[in-house]
Amino acid sequence: MRFVDLHSHLLPGLDDGPASLQETVEMLRFAYQRRTRGIVATPHAFQPMFSTPGPVELHDAFTGLMKHLHQLSDDPEHSFLGEMAIYLGSENLFSPEFLEAVANREVVALNGSRYLLVEFPPFLSYHFVESAIEQILEVELIPVLAHVERYQFFHRRPGRLGNLRHRGCVIQINAESLEEGRLGEEARLAQSLTRRGLLDVIASDGHDVGARPPDMQGAFERLSKGFPEESLHTWMWENPVRILGNRDLVSVY
Ligand SMILES: [Fe+2]
Repeated sequence: MRFVDLHSHLLPGLDDGPASLQETVEMLRFAYQRRTRGIVATPHAFQPMFSTPGPVELHDAFTGLMKHLHQLSDDPEHSFLGEMAIYLGSENLFSPEFLEAVANREVVALNGSRYLLVEFPPFLSYHFVESAIEQILEVELIPVLAHVERYQFFHRRPGRLGNLRHRGCVIQINAESLEEGRLGEEARLAQSLTRRGLLDVIASDGHDVGARPPDMQGAFERLSKGFPEESLHTWMWENPVRILGNRDLVSVY
């Protein structure tokens, strides 16, 4: 099976992802060797640790990267680049500035679709998160909730995710939380969501080729012991492809 990875930090020099074009290429090579064929660059946005480029700057940075990669792909050593589809999005941290940008539609959604990748500061209460989600849905954007297994307010009440999903949110889990040998609350929630079918997308959230690589294959190998290939195809290929094409998603159960 091949994968489409909806969440990664691929654009060089913008956040805590690769520092150089060379590191970006190494991440792409790693992803390709682990059977990813489509990948979305989702740099952090509205994250105070990094300067947030606006939509115009992000598109410019992406166009610049694509130009470099296209030139490189002529070289036999980099010919794999010709088999990788690369898209632009962003990973947006909830803040008043972010919600203002949402209202003005000044955000970079996943491949220009209505799907917008979002994360929350860990200290927020669930009720604040819920009302922020409502504000996004109101302007007819669909929040894709990044790495939901990280939040304590879901550890205690995983049923909340069913509720948010019912209201139209898309649920994303990080592949590494589903790998063999993972322990702790995050892995426990991630595994329980797969068993209950309470998720839509598995993505890598890759940052580098070291500690946080763009790897989907590890999760695939672990999950294929307990789930039909059809479910894994939905989470790791079909739904990501549908999001990039601005289409409705399919559910495993
Ligand atoms: Fe991320």
